[in-house]
Amino acid sequence: MKPKVFVSRPIPEQGLRLVRESCDMKLWEGELPPPRDVLLDEVKDIEGLLCLLTERVDAELLDSAPNVKVVSNMAVGFDNIHIAECTKRGIPVGNTPGVLTDTTADLAWALLMAAARRIVEGTDHVRAGNWKTWGPMLLMGQDVYGATLGIIGLGRIGTAVAKRARGFGMRILYYDIRRREDLEAEWGLEYKDFDALLKESDFVTIHTVLSPQTHHLISEREFGLMKETAVLVNAARGPIVDPEALYRALKEGQIAYAALDVTEPEPINMDSPLLELDNIIIVPHIGSASYATRGKMAEMAARNLIAGLKGERLPTCVNPEVYGE
Ligand code: DGY
Repeated sequence: MKPKVFVSRPIPEQGLRLVRESCDMKLWEGELPPPRDVLLDEVKDIEGLLCLLTERVDAELLDSAPNVKVVSNMAVGFDNIHIAECTKRGIPVGNTPGVLTDTTADLAWALLMAAARRIVEGTDHVRAGNWKTWGPMLLMGQDVYGATLGIIGLGRIGTAVAKRARGFGMRILYYDIRRREDLEAEWGLEYKDFDALLKESDFVTIHTVLSPQTHHLISEREFGLMKETAVLVNAARGPIVDPEALYRALKEGQIAYAALDVTEPEPINMDSPLLELDNIIIVPHIGSASYATRGKMAEMAARNLIAGLKGERLPTCVNPEVYGE
């Protein structure tokens, strides 16, 4: 008998095939996540759950899934999962680090460039039929080459962004709770305290995890420190930036531009005042969305799931304490 598992959305075939081969798989075929009551019902007799960052895995869900042996999240971030509750029950949790680093850094860089050079406004201008002539004052933006970049969170993705910035001759500042002298030397980075980074950067890009400590890390006070010409990029998690403070900062010219891959809430409410502004770009959490990367993430998530079902150590486990470490 194959173990019963629930997969909470269609994922690339690279991963789905592996799950299908070794499990009795129930797949939620919807384009939207399963409603909470459906999810709670579906997990009742499963041994493994392969989920996405849209599913909240908490005590309530785990209580509804008494046989579950493994939770595999198809994402590197795992703020949707109550890790302590999983650990308490001896359930290993898998994630997908590494494979999406460069793809996500590429997207952050695309947002930075698009905001600096007002690419989306330019496209809208052309489509609206407003392109009448070459204009000496038309759609002027910020130079990226030679500017100062401030990276908040120097993990894998933050470091990959720093590598890209080197090619643009930038001065690269970073803030992290852990100083990384090895990376400073390798990539020519300057460690700054948080406030100094905000004051000195032309571009501020966020690559930290969402935690109680980073919730609304960028809010009223922080916008007050930033340059009026600054561009803020967030390709990490929406709630790291306070959306109301961001609106005021963009509207009142405390900063020049924002480019977001993530929002609070997510998806953004269509009545959010942010959507009325011209100086913001918002894309729908597509940081890792290349064909190749999503395929690798699906495969990694499947391998974590299958290892957990066999009682083997997950290849990438976020709570190794379950193994007594
Ligand atoms: C992640 O993996 O955490 C991203 O946000 C989605 O790829």
